[in-house]
Amino acid sequence: MGVAFLKDIELSGRRVLIRADFNVPLKENGKISDDNRIKQFLPTLRYILERKAKPILMSHLGRPGGKPDMALSLRPIAETLSTLLKQDVILAQGIVGQEVEDQVERLQPGQVLLLENLRFNPGEQRNDPEFCQQLARTADVFVNDAFGTSHRPHASIIGVPRLFKQKAAGLLMQKELEYYERALVKPRQPFCMILGGVKVATKLNALIKLADRVDKVIIGGAMANTFLAAQGLQMGRSRFESDLFQRALELIAILARRDCKLYLPVDFMVGPSPNAHGLGRAVPAQEIPADTMALDIGPATSLLFKEALHTAETIVWNGPMGVFENEDFSKGTTDMIEHLSSAHGVTVAGGGDTDAAIHAMQLGHKFNFISTGGGALLQLMEGRGLPGLEVLKS
Ligand code: 3PG
Repeated sequence: MGVAFLKDIELSGRRVLIRADFNVPLKENGKISDDNRIKQFLPTLRYILERKAKPILMSHLGRPGGKPDMALSLRPIAETLSTLLKQDVILAQGIVGQEVEDQVERLQPGQVLLLENLRFNPGEQRNDPEFCQQLARTADVFVNDAFGTSHRPHASIIGVPRLFKQKAAGLLMQKELEYYERALVKPRQPFCMILGGVKVATKLNALIKLADRVDKVIIGGAMANTFLAAQGLQMGRSRFESDLFQRALELIAILARRDCKLYLPVDFMVGPSPNAHGLGRAVPAQEIPADTMALDIGPATSLLFKEALHTAETIVWNGPMGVFENEDFSKGTTDMIEHLSSAHGVTVAGGGDTDAAIHAMQLGHKFNFISTGGGALLQLMEGRGLPGLEVLKS
């Protein structure tokens, strides 16, 4: 694919600037609620440390809007990394500037420096040339291991690598691309795609792109509402996107022409609002009361989806089946996690909400691969490529 990987570049003793994706969910007390993205990055960091290089890590966290916000400092990331790595990870005094340059100067082979949240500087999202120069002069080699952010045309993703002769994709990026190829480019068939959650437009584009490869499509979550409403079903006060009706109907016709089976919910758990408690009830899809919202797939749908998955050799899942953050409407998603945990085919899950639900049930080990990318994975599936990857080719 024209991209260099870690094994292709000389690292020993050199300063290596690594873009990671430490954009992890935080609890109200500022503690990390899911450290999967940090754990997935460790092989790259260990590989670089074993070669006695000097890793300088950089990432964003949240959306602080180009100014410092201590609630989004990378301090908890530095602490978690130190614990997982069993060695001290130094949090830099900032992102760029003299103090940081001095810290880089003092860095010894085998030590790790983590720059502060890149999005504290407005230059990151603007891909500002001066900011790129300042970041680039800290190192000799550039590594992108931030698969989850490689769809963003930001400084650390495209501007900085352009300034390096020596650049490579990290081990997590490599693993993500290998699984993408295995599960989505050359899937073992029958290939079943499960989609849920929101971001309906992106997922519709991805499905149209994949229509010639996919044998079964299962749709749940808010996405299913749009498909059912497009076919004339009364969805009460449920969330759906009427401007996408035409595209949804087109997709149904494309799938039918390609002999691809489409599974939509036959019943729902409905309630007055996404955060209501104790008021959910199951109703057939044809009988959603006008004053309620469809907030999860119902028990009959869960069974139907399980049956449909039975023969699949490859299953790719992106997006929850309902409002799983509310326990009253989480069963469709937790059932799906269980179905996939016992599936015999290759199972790949992606998307922040899907990952969080799987990790909350501690069933991550039952999946062949859980992608660290949400938007990035969908962009690849849409066939639009990733700017962060393209720039590594030059
Ligand atoms: C993600 O979590 O999808 C990536 O880290 C990108 O974050 P962003 O959507 O805030 O750009």
